Amino acid sequence: MRTTVGIIGGGPAGLLLARLLHRAGIACVVLESRTRAHAEGRQRAGMLEQGTVDALRATGAADRLDAEGLVHHGIELRFDGERHRLDFPALTGGRTVTIYAQTEIVKDLVALQLADGPPLLFEAEALAVERPQSETPVVRFRHEGRERTLHCAWVAGCDGSHGVARNAFPDAADGRTYAHDYPYSWLGVTAEVPPSCDELIYARHARGFALHSMRSPHVSRLYLQVPRGTSLRDWPDERIWDELAARFAVDADWSLRRGPITARSVTRMRSVVHEPMRHGRLVLAGDAAHIVPPTGAKGLNLAVSDVRILARAFAELHDRGSTRLLDGYSDLCLRRVWQATRFSYDMTRMLHAQPDGDAFDHRMQLARLRRITASRHAAAELAANYTGLPLSP
Ligand code: FAD
Ligand code: DHB
Repeated sequence: MRTTVGIIGGGPAGLLLARLLHRAGIACVVLESRTRAHAEGRQRAGMLEQGTVDALRATGAADRLDAEGLVHHGIELRFDGERHRLDFPALTGGRTVTIYAQTEIVKDLVALQLADGPPLLFEAEALAVERPQSETPVVRFRHEGRERTLHCAWVAGCDGSHGVARNAFPDAADGRTYAHDYPYSWLGVTAEVPPSCDELIYARHARGFALHSMRSPHVSRLYLQVPRGTSLRDWPDERIWDELAARFAVDADWSLRRGPITARSVTRMRSVVHEPMRHGRLVLAGDAAHIVPPTGAKGLNLAVSDVRILARAFAELHDRGSTRLLDGYSDLCLRRVWQATRFSYDMTRMLHAQPDGDAFDHRMQLARLRRITASRHAAAELAANYTGLPLSP
């Protein structure tokens, strides 16, 4: 097989990149290691920045998003038994966010690509990227029991945090991985019950962090901070609901609606950034290049901003023969990636109970939260980061 851009990974990053390239008249092929049902069913992100929504609209992949997405004008911070709302449009000059599940974005992009897009192969597992520094890089992959090769002009590694594209980067002096581990995980559940709130609630409690999100007017999505290494076996439904209710409790009249839990998982929390994001003719985008803890809801949005920048760079090469944007791709993305890494780190540290935390840590967290709820400047800074910083600084 031959193509211009070989895309490894059919998650949000790979699928959106394929769509953008297709619309720019650039040939590509997407290799996805899992089945279609698996790729479409993975419960993950749900909060989309305006720029993410705009990018999906620009590719014609937003019909259902526009019909079913929930536009949110703020979030609530809960701590010390109090509720504080942040009004995003008022704090950011009109910006909002949209709740629409990553599973649905993937379904929408897969449907479009199978209907009129470039080839998308499921159960096609990339094994290695070879000769990334030559003009003829190759992706070796396994499909239908056979080993095959995809000859490309460029390779885009959109294969997430456990992919293989990164392995083709040398451990050269100018390449580095920066990582930070958090000593806790998130237990996430989806429940067939209408959300108990109109907007997302981020709750800081001495027992640990809790987040109330949603998937639709009938389906709630909730998260609990749990110790690292937690097993789902220790968390029967009753315990999950009791713990959520305790962490969301406020002095005012409010109660948590309970319902059948349909999905549950435990996610480790970490920050990772690989630098640089390009090696020869191999470029990385999305979780393949960086991971953030989910507290700031930045992972999916960063993956989308990477591929928007990358698609523009490929279009400039295709239309004008210039590699100027491709040459600047890594630096431009990383500037934004580090801002999102900082924001996710700050949100995580501010809202989670430290397992070994002392009274001083606790007071520092409350002081940060009180500053945000008391100062318009501090609130506006959080709102600007949450709703999404500009694509280029
Ligand atoms: P992925 O979604 O991981 O896609 C990579 C794809 O590559 C996968 O389909 C995989 O099967 C495939 N692949 C891997 N290896 C190979 C191979 N060798 N060959 C071929 N294919 C391969 N982000 C937000 O913005 N907002 C949120 O609210 C949010 N909440 C989250 C909550 C949870 C619980 C979790 C776990 C994550 C959350 N995120 C959130 C993060 C977000 O889900 C990821 O950042 C996003 O999925 C990144 O997209 P991606 O396409 O880069 O990677
Ligand atoms: C969701 C997840 C997040 O990490 C977040 O900060 C907001 C929303 C969600 O899955 O809906």
